[in-house]
Amino acid sequence: MRIAMIGTGYVGLVSGACFADFGHQVTCVDKDESKIAALHRGEIPIFEPGLDALVAANVKARRLDFTTDLKASVAEADAVFIAVGTPSRRGDGHADLTYVYAAAREIAQALQGFTVVVTKSTVPVGTGDEVERRIRETNPRADVAVASNPEFLREGAAIRDFKFPDRIVVGTSDERARKVLGDVYRPLSLNQAPMMFTARRTAELIKYAANAFLATKITFINEIADLCEAVGADVQEVSRGIGLDNRIGRKFLNAGPGYGGSCFPKDTLALMKTARDAGAPIELIETTVRVNTARKQKMAQKIIEALGGNVGGKTVAILGLTFKPNTDDMRDAPALDIVPTLQAEGAKVRAFDPEGMTEAKHMLKDVQFATGPYDCADGADAVVIITEWDQFRALDFKRLKQALKAPVVIDLRNIYSPAEMRAHGFTYVSVGRA
Ligand SMILES: NC(=O)c1ccc[n+]([C@@H]2O[C@H](COP(=O)([O-])OP(=O)(O)OC[C@H]3O[C@@H](n4cnc5c(N)ncnc54)[C@H](O)[C@@H]3O)[C@@H](O)[C@H]2O)c1
Repeated sequence: MRIAMIGTGYVGLVSGACFADFGHQVTCVDKDESKIAALHRGEIPIFEPGLDALVAANVKARRLDFTTDLKASVAEADAVFIAVGTPSRRGDGHADLTYVYAAAREIAQALQGFTVVVTKSTVPVGTGDEVERRIRETNPRADVAVASNPEFLREGAAIRDFKFPDRIVVGTSDERARKVLGDVYRPLSLNQAPMMFTARRTAELIKYAANAFLATKITFINEIADLCEAVGADVQEVSRGIGLDNRIGRKFLNAGPGYGGSCFPKDTLALMKTARDAGAPIELIETTVRVNTARKQKMAQKIIEALGGNVGGKTVAILGLTFKPNTDDMRDAPALDIVPTLQAEGAKVRAFDPEGMTEAKHMLKDVQFATGPYDCADGADAVVIITEWDQFRALDFKRLKQALKAPVVIDLRNIYSPAEMRAHGFTYVSVGRA
């Protein structure tokens, strides 16, 4: 199969490299010339574990290449995937489809021979209909089918998720599209990935329903954590106690500073908007969004309280800025709310993140960036763990204590044991634990 991947970001680059690894001929297209130039130099524009080796191997095998020339790659392709961004639209929270529609129009002008155009970007119900309408309007003679194939990979584990997905969802009623996508994903049947064919609108909604459910699960355990603090229970044991029930499952039950990242915040908002517009508002998701927004402020207050109710003139050392470990993605990371709130209360903020600092420098003001966790803690009044990177999981307590002005640790990811931290002489505050 010849595949054109339009949009070479977190999803496009990982999907493109994995498809090439299965033996398909893939061209990744992006309109960002600097990104394509970097890829031609062998540099990977994002941090995703294992991606550099996967890209290098498939470039070497001549199955993967990169271009800004959408036209040529689309003309040759059997399947064209749209993997451009769908951020929140300013003002109303709806998904901004500008990039999707712009890509659709460009694709329409370049189509040759039967081609399946596949929306991999997360798009609201009905977008596939509109993509198809626009393609047909732009190029009435095009022999085209438009399908939906939402992506469920997680940053930080993206290659594994792509190659061993829990399911592949394809939304189309077109037999030829079904056949092409069956061929595109056939290599995955060896990995026993269930492939689910459904209607296009249903496929589009599956993606939003999945993300909204997971965001709600996180928000649920965060509220249970607050209750644990109020009544003297331990949220980690509550999580284990409920998660061992197969109907509930153990994943996404870690209490913390609230969900963030490039998907859950914007997708919950967009689903809310879709549901309201359709006259079927989903109150549960509206509450999830509200509770999660408030949670980030709550976390800043938790830090301020741990510092005696006043952070004016104090130095707070932040470990971890990205919304989760193993990514450099800073989009909607809780740190982007927590840090400015601390600064507004007069705190000086020093921060360290293994991969996120380049991006964070554009998004946070007046933060001093450190070279490592101990450098970050040096002379600080407290250290706050916001992201559970592996390298923060086994800190040298003696060194940390020596570096800090006061031995205060606020652990928003519950990576340490309260008893152990107290035994080491720390004032230790975590989430939902006595
Ligand atoms: N990041 C994730 O973990 C994840 C997971 C599942 C689904 N998604 C969805 O996938 C989509 C893409 O997300 P992402 O994180 O990869 O975004 P991204 O911002 O990392 O990448 C999008 C890329 O598309 C390029 N682009 C935009 N318009 C273009 C055009 N007309 N032609 C060529 N290139 C164009 C941009 O330059 C950019 O490089 C979104 O809808 C997102 O919701 C993301």
